[in-house]
Amino acid sequence: MASRRELDDWTALWNEVAQVFSPGAPIDESDLFAGRITQLGDLINAVNQRGHHAIIFGERGVGKTSLANIFTNYVHRPVSRVVAKRINCDGISNFQNLWQRSFAELGIEAHVTASFGPDDIRMTLDSVSANYLPIIVFDEFDRLSSGRTKALLADTIKTLSDHSTSTTIVVVGVANSVSELLAEHASIGRALAEIPMPRMSDDEISEIIDKRAKRLGMSVDADVLRRIVAYSQGLPHYAHLIGLYAFQEAARLKTRNIDKFHLSNAIRSCIDKAQQTIRDSYDRATYSPRSDNLFKQVLLACSLAKVDSQGFFAAADVVQPLSAIMAKHYDIPSFARHLKEFCSTGRGFLLEQTGVKRKFRYRFKDPLMRPFITLQGVASDTIPRAYNP
Ligand SMILES: Nc1ncnc2c1ncn2[C@@H]1O[C@H](COP(=O)(O)OP(=O)(O)O)[C@@H](O)[C@H]1O
Ligand SMILES: [Mg+2]
Repeated sequence: MASRRELDDWTALWNEVAQVFSPGAPIDESDLFAGRITQLGDLINAVNQRGHHAIIFGERGVGKTSLANIFTNYVHRPVSRVVAKRINCDGISNFQNLWQRSFAELGIEAHVTASFGPDDIRMTLDSVSANYLPIIVFDEFDRLSSGRTKALLADTIKTLSDHSTSTTIVVVGVANSVSELLAEHASIGRALAEIPMPRMSDDEISEIIDKRAKRLGMSVDADVLRRIVAYSQGLPHYAHLIGLYAFQEAARLKTRNIDKFHLSNAIRSCIDKAQQTIRDSYDRATYSPRSDNLFKQVLLACSLAKVDSQGFFAAADVVQPLSAIMAKHYDIPSFARHLKEFCSTGRGFLLEQTGVKRKFRYRFKDPLMRPFITLQGVASDTIPRAYNP
């Protein structure tokens, strides 16, 4: 019989697993941050070059906030103290209250009046930057609803840059491009380092798992690691989600090595514990009173379709995976209606559509949806062999 102490060790390990895997929160500890070497370098350079600022943009969930949290740990200044603060934007933020909050966070006493403009911000920052080096991160910039606020912030960056003020501004948000995120007219030019955040590479996702295994004194079968990487599709959130449950399953069964049995149990937990919004939209998109409906299968086929660099696929790309799922040939007319419905309110706009009739291309609106559907297919054993990583 296991001793009391032994039981406690496994319980402790089970708890520790939850402390290193963080599917729901950005990283704030450098040791647990994986990859992103180029992006880190670009950000550090932006801080070290007076008058330079940076903008981080990419899909939801790729790790933008985590990068913005971590990079400041690598900025070294012999004399001045680096003070980094992150300000979250939202639909009701305006220029003045964003700066009021920034100054409060930095401990700068300033009364930001309604008439405060870019030059007033610059002078306020200049008055303190002899003592320390402020870095201000405006996160979730895409949520700002006021174009005026964006334009004023863009002007502020320009002003700070023209005067070589030693404050660094980092703008972070969900967008495909800089112009989509910042005000269109913004001409900040060379003083703004553009930092696109792509999905993580397979090596970077592996590193997320490896670092945590090492910290926990645990190991992972090579085949399991390969699958976690494949299921994650470059999104670190899923590496954390699958890792959390697979490692906990091993700890529960009192072993320090994660094998395929732990992984398959973990996948079931991932589906139960995935973000509520993801589960809800999946249910809504696949709901049908008729049991012979094809919504789940077509959606699974969409998630397996070949995509272009921007994540888009065509109806023709769904033919093969759907035929494999159904073990019978299915042509476009048999599922065209489903695709159309996935792009409609009734099924929650799961897919977005571009292009013109007969040449429509589709994409999952929420990047976190595709891996979820794949995991559903794995758990329900409906994913065709050839498509199961
Ligand atoms: N470089 C990284 N190493 C390890 N985990 C990461 C890394 N970047 C992001 N994550 C994890 O991925 C998830 C999404 O990260 P987050 O920074 O919130 O993304 P975004 O701000 O782009 O939406 C979180 O669970 C976070 O812990
Ligand atoms: Mg974020």
